[in-house]
Amino acid sequence: MQIQLNEVSADYSVGPFRKTNVLSELSLSIEQGAFTAVIGETGAGKSSVLKLVNGLLLPTKGHLQVGEYTLEKNVDKQTLNAIRKNVGMVFQFPENQLFAETVYDDIAFGPRNFGFTEVEVERLVEEASATVGLARHLFTRSPFNLSGGQQRRVAIAGVLATEPEILVLDEPAAGLDPEGKRAIFDMLKDLHQRKGLTTVMVTHDMDDVVHYADDVIVMAKGEVKAHLSVAELFNQEALLKRYRLELPEVLRLKQTIEQAKGQPLRAHPKTVDELARAMIEEGWV
Ligand SMILES: Nc1ncnc2c1ncn2[C@@H]1O[C@H](COP(=O)(O)OP(=O)(O)OP(=O)(O)O)[C@@H](O)[C@H]1O
Ligand SMILES: [Mg+2]
Repeated sequence: MQIQLNEVSADYSVGPFRKTNVLSELSLSIEQGAFTAVIGETGAGKSSVLKLVNGLLLPTKGHLQVGEYTLEKNVDKQTLNAIRKNVGMVFQFPENQLFAETVYDDIAFGPRNFGFTEVEVERLVEEASATVGLARHLFTRSPFNLSGGQQRRVAIAGVLATEPEILVLDEPAAGLDPEGKRAIFDMLKDLHQRKGLTTVMVTHDMDDVVHYADDVIVMAKGEVKAHLSVAELFNQEALLKRYRLELPEVLRLKQTIEQAKGQPLRAHPKTVDELARAMIEEGWV
């Protein structure tokens, strides 16, 4: 499913007050099957864009297209439900929203809510659990007695179990140790490749961007400042500087080495391992 925003503005009403210009006249297009990262400083509007795509935040102006559905200010309930069914949203620290007595019931909540039969629910829970690497023997356990990493998997499985066409995730690996983080991202990447799931994730971490994303949306002050491929982004020094974006570790290393050597490496490594291999292959060491 493709996502297209056409001059969309949105804000939050807080009691009688409106927080204006949270998102102003955003236009962007995310292709079906893309793995897109959304980056930018705190308060830039990253989470708000995800909420928009999921219909949790409605436009005050403009409209967005999510597959065949159009979302605008006065969208009807039926369209909104269809969009929420197609767009799975993983909030920041999603384990905070676990609530059921067992892991099974927690993962089953979404599909039950969307009216799947119990036979279908069972298949969906099993499939989603396998995808996130949760063993069956955990089904009867209380989600509250699991480790943080396992809780995160239960929460993500609950979203996957509704079989969304689009997955939007708000800092999906925040707060996890490096191993837990890699496991979540490898799982997302695998899912993206296997099912062609359109994936949009907010992240603060440039290493995540270079390792996992195909393209990047740079946001600042409620606006989209750039939408470009990962390779293009890290070639644009002025853009990186203007929005205070760091280079990922592998590119920082590569730059230091290239400066010492006085010439550029031909390869475009995405990991430190790939950098080492490229240096060996190109006869630098
Ligand atoms: N529920 C809300 N009520 C009122 N204002 C909000 C609400 N959520 C966000 N905002 C405001 O909207 C703006 C954009 O917030 P948003 O959460 O989308 O930013 P973000 O880029 O996700 O930031 P962060 O990196 O800190 O998560 C900010 O000025 C924020 O204060
Ligand atoms: Mg946010």
